[in-house]
Amino acid sequence: MPSNRTLAIIKPDAFGARKAGKIIALLEEKGFTLRGAKVEHLTSDRAGQFYAVHRERPFYASLVEFMTSGPCMPLVLEKESAVAALREAIGATDPAEAADGTVRKLYAESKGRNAIHASDSDENAATEIEFFFPGQGLGGA
Ligand code: TYD
Repeated sequence: MPSNRTLAIIKPDAFGARKAGKIIALLEEKGFTLRGAKVEHLTSDRAGQFYAVHRERPFYASLVEFMTSGPCMPLVLEKESAVAALREAIGATDPAEAADGTVRKLYAESKGRNAIHASDSDENAATEIEFFFPGQGLGGA
């Protein structure tokens, strides 16, 4: 059975533009329940660790620089089949390709500055929830 929890991060572009409230409201309208939230200004070490899977990609350095450019807002979200539901709600990586009504269509500037992160598997969701909210039992069922 798919997990009912996933992790989102409102990235520094959207957080800095004071869009956090609107994005959370949109996700709640789409049926997600907020189970965890905080504001964190990532260090290069933390951002690098979070995106380690992309270490060899050409955009890695700019991704880490962007993610450390200001505070971000990690969120634990609950909904049935949470990972797939949140991926659908945020839209494609590049906002130019994102569907109408998605977070990225509404709030992202570009492929690099794209407003929000969402876990891409149940396994990564569990790891990413623990990364931001260690020992709090927020991983869900
Ligand atoms: P990825 O995991 O492919 O996308 P998603 O966030 O939709 O799961 O990439 C992670 C982040 O890396 C992405 O949100 C923005 C950045 N990125 C770039 O800056 N340029 C790129 O060409 C790609 C593919 C990603």
